[in-house]
Amino acid sequence: MPPTLKSVVTYSHRELPDVSQLLGLFRQAPWAKDRSLDDAKDMLQHTDLTLCAWDGDHLIGFGRVLTDFVYRATIWDVIVDRAYQGQGVGTEIVKQILNHPRLKRVELFWLCTRRPGFYEKLGFTSKEQTGMVWSRSKNSQLE
Ligand SMILES: CC(C)(COP(=O)(O)OP(=O)(O)OC[C@H]1O[C@@H](n2cnc3c(N)ncnc32)[C@H](O)[C@@H]1OP(=O)(O)O)[C@@H](O)C(=O)NCCC(=O)NCCS
Repeated sequence: MPPTLKSVVTYSHRELPDVSQLLGLFRQAPWAKDRSLDDAKDMLQHTDLTLCAWDGDHLIGFGRVLTDFVYRATIWDVIVDRAYQGQGVGTEIVKQILNHPRLKRVELFWLCTRRPGFYEKLGFTSKEQTGMVWSRSKNSQLE
């Protein structure tokens, strides 16, 4: 790991990541560890905005957004490579999403997380609304 990480990490929302590098990050997150190459390719194609953190050409962080660009945006899959965690990369990914020029009109950003502490530091709150989740694997009786 480089000693002056902040100076070597670059952030980009224009370059889509190489899918195999992205799967390397997904393997480090419990909810994404079993994702396949083909599904991840499809997901990237249909994602409105991605934010990648790079150390040279090595993908070290990722986050993505689904949005109507006006009223609502949801943030998904914010992950930082274990070797680079705790150095501000995750914070920068979320800040760059919230300040992205194409998302300036968005009223409300939503996300689901098992790590509320990280997002509370960035101004997210769980007090205003109740999020609900419908899981296909737990609702097979409706199909
Ligand atoms: C959560 C995650 C994205 C944070 O990225 P990071 O680059 O390590 O975070 P930062 O260095 O920007 O940390 C920012 C602050 O959040 C805190 N923080 C980091 N991870 C945290 C966690 N899991 N729980 C609570 N607080 C956390 C840090 O202590 C830091 O606080 P400080 O500014 O007071 O020192 C990263 O740990 C990760 O990828 N984890 C695995 C995947 C995951 O859980 N993603 C969450 C989305 S659901």
